[in-house]
Amino acid sequence: MNRGDLSAVMEIEKKSFSNPWHLSSFEGEIANDGISFPFVIVHPETRKVMGYIIFWQIGEEIQISNFAVHPDQRRKGMGSSVLGRMLGIMKQRGARIVTLEVRESNNSARALYRRFGFEEAGTRKDYYSRPQEDAVVMLKRMK
Ligand SMILES: CC(C)(COP(=O)(O)OP(=O)(O)OC[C@H]1O[C@@H](n2cnc3c(N)ncnc32)[C@H](O)[C@@H]1OP(=O)(O)O)[C@@H](O)C(=O)NCCC(=O)NCCS
Repeated sequence: MNRGDLSAVMEIEKKSFSNPWHLSSFEGEIANDGISFPFVIVHPETRKVMGYIIFWQIGEEIQISNFAVHPDQRRKGMGSSVLGRMLGIMKQRGARIVTLEVRESNNSARALYRRFGFEEAGTRKDYYSRPQEDAVVMLKRMK
């Protein structure tokens, strides 16, 4: 992900989340070299941004901090393909544990993560706002 991607990224972000990140958050991720790894998913022919995934690495721990696919492109296997490839990259980078938070009501994302071996490790009460909701903490131990 670079600055030139951000208008497309913001469009997807606003379509994907009820309480979207601000532009400045994505700018911060791009600037946070060495800790944040922001990637865009780009159409192979049109080069259009179709989604993105951001993870943070601190030692052997990785946190997936943002992940979305454009609503028009969902349920075609793109999210699974990207998550699978990213987990491979994380493993190569020495990750032992991958965690993320997801809204309790986000059944599609929870199903996707479970298929990739994430377990539900706990909840964070009222973690999200607009609307207020608990987060489910999901955790995967790399084998
Ligand atoms: C989560 C997300 C990135 C998945 O991307 P995607 O490209 O649609 O994912 P896939 O097509 O690979 O679907 C993978 C699996 O997820 C589950 N899934 C995806 N959408 C679903 C839905 N609407 N209902 C139920 N399960 C769903 C299914 O298990 C699906 O497999 P299947 O299609 O074989 O049944 C996408 O739905 C998205 O952007 N959601 C909004 C943002 C978001 O919630 N991000 C995650 C925050 S933690």
